[in-house]
Amino acid sequence: MRRVVQTADSGAPEVAEARPLEGKVALVTGGAKRVGRAIALKLAQAGMDVAITYRSSAADAAEAVRAVEALGRRALAIRVDHAKPGSDALVKRRFLAEFSRLDALVNNASGFAPTPFAKLTPAQLRRAFDENMAVNALGPLMLIHQFAPLLAANHRKDDPKSTGRIVNFVDIHVLGQPLRGYVAYNASKAALLQITMTLAMELAPKITVNALAPGVVAWAADYTPAQREAYLKRVPLGRAGTPQDAAAAALFLVRDADYCTGQVIQLDGGRLWT
Ligand SMILES: NC(=O)c1ccc[n+]([C@@H]2O[C@H](COP(=O)([O-])OP(=O)(O)OC[C@H]3O[C@@H](n4cnc5c(N)ncnc54)[C@H](OP(=O)(O)O)[C@@H]3O)[C@@H](O)[C@H]2O)c1
Repeated sequence: MRRVVQTADSGAPEVAEARPLEGKVALVTGGAKRVGRAIALKLAQAGMDVAITYRSSAADAAEAVRAVEALGRRALAIRVDHAKPGSDALVKRRFLAEFSRLDALVNNASGFAPTPFAKLTPAQLRRAFDENMAVNALGPLMLIHQFAPLLAANHRKDDPKSTGRIVNFVDIHVLGQPLRGYVAYNASKAALLQITMTLAMELAPKITVNALAPGVVAWAADYTPAQREAYLKRVPLGRAGTPQDAAAAALFLVRDADYCTGQVIQLDGGRLWT
């Protein structure tokens, strides 16, 4: 991909190559299906070797590995429950058995369970809160902690764009329109948003940390046709997003967004503003 850029000193346009990703390595959590799979394939198409994690979708994970390998890239699937203490160390151990570098970490794995506040007992509410936090906030935080040294190792003083890249998946619902019935999920994604912004400061200048905030980019299985229609009425671009839309945005943050950190990109067809 070529970009025309204006140089500050001469004012003359010059053609700059996008940073090549060949030989680089990505780790995509929850990469067996849906959005995570699309990201894994998009990064592989762009030249990266890809490790994915999965929890229960073993057959899909094996298929995703084959799809990455069919693109001529190396692939690895790591089975893990990101909610469990020690899971971050397990992922790192398995990852390092196969790869010696990491250029991009995409925290995509997520739980999305409702918490009908008024109906839950205190014990149920506490459990739901802990579960959402464990997968959606603490899991990514601990993985970042494990992999930050490896991501930072890419950085060279003579090339300030050579940053490791972290992409966290949050949700447009934490940017101003909370999703009713999902207080624990909303809280966990809001925590991940703060993790993104805080670590953008703490890990600079060696690593960039950004977030993607989808509206709908893959329908939840239990969404009825009526619910889909009602949702789409409020989307200015008039359609739902796709996993490929999310993958394209992830590729942008991994490959092209050299001067972005602590940024959140809405992937919602404009819905947040309606
Ligand atoms: N879909 C949307 O429209 C939408 C909207 C807003 C935000 N997002 C965010 O975008 C990202 C991708 O969305 P999605 O709909 O593709 O996600 P998803 O299907 O809900 O979940 C992705 C994967 O996360 C994995 N996962 C869940 N809990 C796990 C755990 N404890 N340990 C390890 N893996 C676990 C699952 O792996 P297994 O299948 O192997 O169990 C699942 O396939 C998520 O972060 C989501 O919150 C999506």
